[in-house]
Amino acid sequence: MIPQEIIRRKRDGQELTGADIAAFIEGLTREAVSEGQVAAFAMATFFRGMSRDEVIALTLAMRDSGDVLTWTDAGKPVADKHSTGGVGDNVSLMLAPIVAACGLAVPMISGRGLGHTGGTLDKFQSIPGYDVMPGEDVLRRVVKEVGCAIIGQTGDLAPADKRLYAIRDVTATVESIPLITASILSKKLAAGLETLVLDVKCGNGAFMARQEDAEALARSLVEVANGAGVRTAALLTDMNEPLADAAGNAVEVANAVSFLRGEKAGTRLDAVTFALAAEMLVQAGVFATHDAAEAAARKVLANGTAADVFARMVHALGGPADFMEKPEAYLVRAPVILPVPARASGFLSACETRDVGLAVLELGGGRKRPQDAIDHRVGFTDLLPLGARVEKAQPFAFVHAPDEAAARKAISALQAAYTLSNDTPGDRPVILTRM
Ligand code: URA
Repeated sequence: MIPQEIIRRKRDGQELTGADIAAFIEGLTREAVSEGQVAAFAMATFFRGMSRDEVIALTLAMRDSGDVLTWTDAGKPVADKHSTGGVGDNVSLMLAPIVAACGLAVPMISGRGLGHTGGTLDKFQSIPGYDVMPGEDVLRRVVKEVGCAIIGQTGDLAPADKRLYAIRDVTATVESIPLITASILSKKLAAGLETLVLDVKCGNGAFMARQEDAEALARSLVEVANGAGVRTAALLTDMNEPLADAAGNAVEVANAVSFLRGEKAGTRLDAVTFALAAEMLVQAGVFATHDAAEAAARKVLANGTAADVFARMVHALGGPADFMEKPEAYLVRAPVILPVPARASGFLSACETRDVGLAVLELGGGRKRPQDAIDHRVGFTDLLPLGARVEKAQPFAFVHAPDEAAARKAISALQAAYTLSNDTPGDRPVILTRM
């Protein structure tokens, strides 16, 4: 294989063969293909796209770049969900324990932050002792004993994606339907799932801002996953404002703890979490209707079973046994926490959500280079939702920063990201469609 010939063919818009793709991915995994060549391949794919056959070949080659798990002894439906990435999207942290409490086995293989979006793994690394990269034996034990385990691409699961993902993150090649499809599905297929629900984000904080592009991504994901034998559906959900009222790492974990304590009822985060939970439970055959599934999911939140599953998962993966009782004793706190005052009176009517994600990244909560360390303490909390009325100088969020100068910059960035107007933005459904 001559990598530059494969890159050249893709650059010139030719269709690659399955053999080309398999050879390139094999070289990428062994690091026989350089970082520059991987970046060029990603950029050529970004501009030229891929046929469905190429996407399937890329997904399967990436799945087969490492171990592929099987769960013959799970005794429960093995299910998962994956989000295409957003800002303040901490749904996985609550969803996995909720559906595990309702009878699913959830080996959730998550990723790090990508571009302006946060990553579930980075969030869990804010919990002292939590091992995001345990061995396969630990993953199996925790899924069996607790019902769910949220971890990274442990050992040798889809190592090709691990390398490609890190390079895409810093080369502006994330927003590509073929690359997103293969990235998400290679990990999910390697985890040995029976069913999968995808949360395809749509809006100015998502990789797909326009609904038709998000629908095309959802179609690509659903077709390739079902074609590979994993029963898959997708919900398109709104990402035109941060989903949770926090964005960052430790702050989103704290937010998830509040959710599991029942303190986030009636929010958009609540709506998305329970819609996905119902979809997962129906798809896995545990409930016949979405209403019955949602009622069961709400019950395990209300009676504390989901919070207990989360607590046991954290402990089983090395975190503190009493994390749920006193998260504030364990989660790192930024040295500077300041209010973000509204520049004028009015309704919060629009948000440049990507800029909110970039402001978190600038604070140190994301990476500019693959090797960068994350500052888990930083981000925003108490973000008011669009439609909220604020008076001039009233805080509409708090910034958590490493120092005063960084806080001031983030305050300006957040103020610029939100539009204040005399009118409310009106009804904006959070679940857009199902595919
Ligand atoms: N999530 C992933 O795992 N990969 C992508 O490319 C985008 C979101």
